[in-house]
Amino acid sequence: MTAERYCEHPWWKSAAIYEIALISFQDSNGDGKGDLAGLISRIDYLKWLGIGAVWLTPIYKSPFRDLGYDISDYCSIDPAFGSLDEFDRLLEALHAEGIRLILDLVPNHTAIDHAWFVESSSSPNSAKADWYIWADAAESGGPPSNWLSRFGGSGWEWCEARRQYYYHSFLVEQPDLNWRNPEVQKAMADVMRFWLDRGVDGFRVDASAVLIKDELLRDNPPNPQAKGKPPPQRQTPVFTDDRKETMNCIEFIREVIDSYPDRLLCGEVQGKTDRIGHFYGDGRPRLHLPLNFALLDAQWQALSLQAAIDAYLNAIPDKAWPVWLIGGHDKQRIASKIGTAQMRVLAMLLMTLPGTPFLYMGDEIGRKRVPIAPDRVRDPFERLVPGYGLCRDPERAPMRWDDSESGGFTTGGPWLPLERGEAPNVAEQQRDDRSLLALFRALIGLRREHACLREGGYAPLRSRDDVLAFKRVAGATEMLVALNTTSEPRKWHWRGRGRVLMSTHLDRPREPLPDAAILLRGNEGVIAFISDDNFGTPNL
Ligand code: GLC
Repeated sequence: MTAERYCEHPWWKSAAIYEIALISFQDSNGDGKGDLAGLISRIDYLKWLGIGAVWLTPIYKSPFRDLGYDISDYCSIDPAFGSLDEFDRLLEALHAEGIRLILDLVPNHTAIDHAWFVESSSSPNSAKADWYIWADAAESGGPPSNWLSRFGGSGWEWCEARRQYYYHSFLVEQPDLNWRNPEVQKAMADVMRFWLDRGVDGFRVDASAVLIKDELLRDNPPNPQAKGKPPPQRQTPVFTDDRKETMNCIEFIREVIDSYPDRLLCGEVQGKTDRIGHFYGDGRPRLHLPLNFALLDAQWQALSLQAAIDAYLNAIPDKAWPVWLIGGHDKQRIASKIGTAQMRVLAMLLMTLPGTPFLYMGDEIGRKRVPIAPDRVRDPFERLVPGYGLCRDPERAPMRWDDSESGGFTTGGPWLPLERGEAPNVAEQQRDDRSLLALFRALIGLRREHACLREGGYAPLRSRDDVLAFKRVAGATEMLVALNTTSEPRKWHWRGRGRVLMSTHLDRPREPLPDAAILLRGNEGVIAFISDDNFGTPNL
């Protein structure tokens, strides 16, 4: 990869993008749920941190059976969150601070309460009869195919009024729309335009890989690796996931986005790293950023991380812009997996790899999974498929702004509990200029300041002795990133001259790097200039 590889510079290539589950960010009215007014009151924080764009999980009208991913009206704000006027105020206030806003677009399914489904399910002769995926019973009288719901049980649900089944990839209350129907495509384009006209800067497309299912409704084969997996994973979903025709839908969505200047389309894609490349598009563009969780899934070990990074960069097309996530509303907190001290090294990795960094609210303070007692569980997946340790509530717990009982999140009873005892919080870390939060802020600032980190080429080095290492290169500027992934000191052997730009410990600025060996403390990473106008060409 050369420095020339990245030549265009839309805003989303330089922004650090911050995912917010609105219900858990900041409550303004004491009902225990975060809302738009609460978010407006925290824009100062986002600005201080250096966030370039916010991605909001669904804020639309919803019965909230699945964190708002069950929408009953795409063109409204759920009253628990506020109003369209407040939304406009939020957008204006974010834009005034130079922060972009992207919304979650959920094109695959609605809630059963949506007017489209109410009409579609009323009769096989209704005007919207083909807006969802309807099929007759099998000859046996049972479901039309063996397809499973991701949330347990059959994916088919009987509807007495139509004497047919409808298909739902997720909850029974989340019927899948029929994306083969041009009227559905048009309706979704109208939804997008509604928000784009208001000024939103793009969308994260939910479940983008499942928009089209096999037209013949062929049965999915068993999953040979099903042992120990939850029931929904006992099939290999070849006839329901990642169908070729799905790409046409994504291309269609992209065309709508591209009819507006300067907007971003990112999306949730399923499957392994080796499938991620085709979500970028080949000829006709698809997603700008198919979201990549390789860092989250990799083992915390230099060689494994290097392999995961390499596999991903190899899997995306030559001109594709990479993207890295370290958390999300569906993903177990990475701080719980790798540990608090290692979060500093991860922060440096995230902000120095080529591509757009995403973080999920709370990652910047090293938030861990919050224990949720069984009687407080809200995640429908956990209720329907319990016992596999896959509950998503521990990462959806309210943000901890301070050390008070409700964390500064609400004056009422929080919708999900916060952890007891000592837990990282924003106020404390803002006071400490060596905190993880301070480090994230400094790294975001450094990335903003140095074009080499944002746009420079990426050159892997041989990681060894537990040190993950690579270079970023832009013209005469070369930066070395060396990350000790263990808690013990390590030496990184090299030949050259350099100067430390930043250590994860935030304490050795401008320190010269000795030739032959750089000593890294446990869980320390450094970014160093190894060649710039002052240094000439290094010898690595
Ligand atoms: C997406 C969302 C997830 C939700 C599912 C069904 O995968 O990220 O939170 O449960 O869609 O809507």
